[in-house]
Amino acid sequence: MNFLVIGSGAREHIMAEKLADVGANVFSVLTNSNPGLIHLSKNYILVKSYNSVKTINKIIDFALSESVECVVIGPEDPLANGLADKFWKKGISVVGPVKELAQIETSKGFTRDLLDKYEIDASPRFKRFNNIEGSSDFIDKLDGEYVIKFDGLMGGKGVRVSGEHLKTKAEGLEYCKNLLANSGNYVIEEKLYGEEFSLMSFCDGSKLSHMPTIQDHKRAYENDIGPNTGGMGSYSDSNHSLPFLNDNEIAAAREINEQVASALLRHTGIEYKGILYGGFMATKNGIKLIEYNARFGDPEAMNLLSLLDTDFASVCCGIVEGNLESVKFRNEASVCKYIVPEGYGSNPNPDATLIVDERYKKFSNLYYAAVNLENSGNITTTSSRAAAIVATSSTIEKAEEKCEKGLEYISGDNLFVRHDIAKSHLIEKRLKNMEKIR
Ligand code: AMP
Ligand code: GLY
Repeated sequence: MNFLVIGSGAREHIMAEKLADVGANVFSVLTNSNPGLIHLSKNYILVKSYNSVKTINKIIDFALSESVECVVIGPEDPLANGLADKFWKKGISVVGPVKELAQIETSKGFTRDLLDKYEIDASPRFKRFNNIEGSSDFIDKLDGEYVIKFDGLMGGKGVRVSGEHLKTKAEGLEYCKNLLANSGNYVIEEKLYGEEFSLMSFCDGSKLSHMPTIQDHKRAYENDIGPNTGGMGSYSDSNHSLPFLNDNEIAAAREINEQVASALLRHTGIEYKGILYGGFMATKNGIKLIEYNARFGDPEAMNLLSLLDTDFASVCCGIVEGNLESVKFRNEASVCKYIVPEGYGSNPNPDATLIVDERYKKFSNLYYAAVNLENSGNITTTSSRAAAIVATSSTIEKAEEKCEKGLEYISGDNLFVRHDIAKSHLIEKRLKNMEKIR
């Protein structure tokens, strides 16, 4: 079967690998010359972005010329621009929701309103704003414990948290004004305390099949400080839970995803076909929703697709045909750490050569992200994440050690890794925090 993978990060690299592994023909649409995807693809095209009609038409023409039967969309931008809608209109199936449903990710306000309307009790107190009026009063109402979120896509970087990124109310109001100046609406919401985790579910329009829970690390620096990023690394445990979560908490998150999928269907009348990604926080008042994504998480895809025990092509077919069966994952732990340019998240230092010594393969897998394969054969970094190293084993500790050993074989100038991800001391800290919170 012919699959078209849209996107050129590590998430798309592993999706293409899993499809090729089961004998599918992979074609791809890239925004950077990802060496992994280029190697796996029967043919590919390079585009600058997904936001012009001309580019969208070029992608559709490419799919038609290669007799593509199923499209798998990785990133949020093409979903936000209605690429799925265009493919369905041409009779080509898509894993990834249509534009109206992608609002679950593209508008934080849409999502909070949806939860309210369908009485899904998982939101912090919140209010939507399209001008500064009332922002100061609402911040006071939240006792100065607030989060400001740009109501649109900003690659995970549109969120500022009081006490961390915003030291004073004046700074908070300044951020609101900046967003307004860039024609952005925003949401102010109550700051929650607890431990974050993600629960992604495959969805075929009516049925959901849940993946193992997983924890990403959004902050740029060790010990969870610094600016928010697209994600610096993630881990999952062999029992498909996380060390700091209990069964009730996982059940609650699953129920929220199920309720949201059915609310989306009732609200729009359209079936959600793709991956529904719930970003949650376990708090003293139960499981709360931080955000939804309308796609596979990145880095989470590298962990969970590494553990997949069902043929990925048949999962995609089940999603688009509406006959998804329970998707199986191996009972192993996984650890993924991203190699990024120094300063990623604020002021990145790109254009370095990434040197990959193949001996990493003894310990781990490597998936290329926002890098370019040059004519010279060199791989150069950009201002975004460069490569993900992933290892699996019977325990998180062993997987973490293998991941670190793999990392030793990757080098280059101005590179940075959050080595604390999945280390025992950080997990211990999360356990203690959750004990205190519960
Ligand atoms: P988001 O893009 O909505 O996932 O937010 C990025 C990060 O900001 C999250 O991973 C959290 O660390 C933090 N964050 C977002 N919303 C809240 C909230 N209501 N309370 C505390 N932290 C939050
Ligand atoms: N890992 C978070 C995201 O994919 O947005």
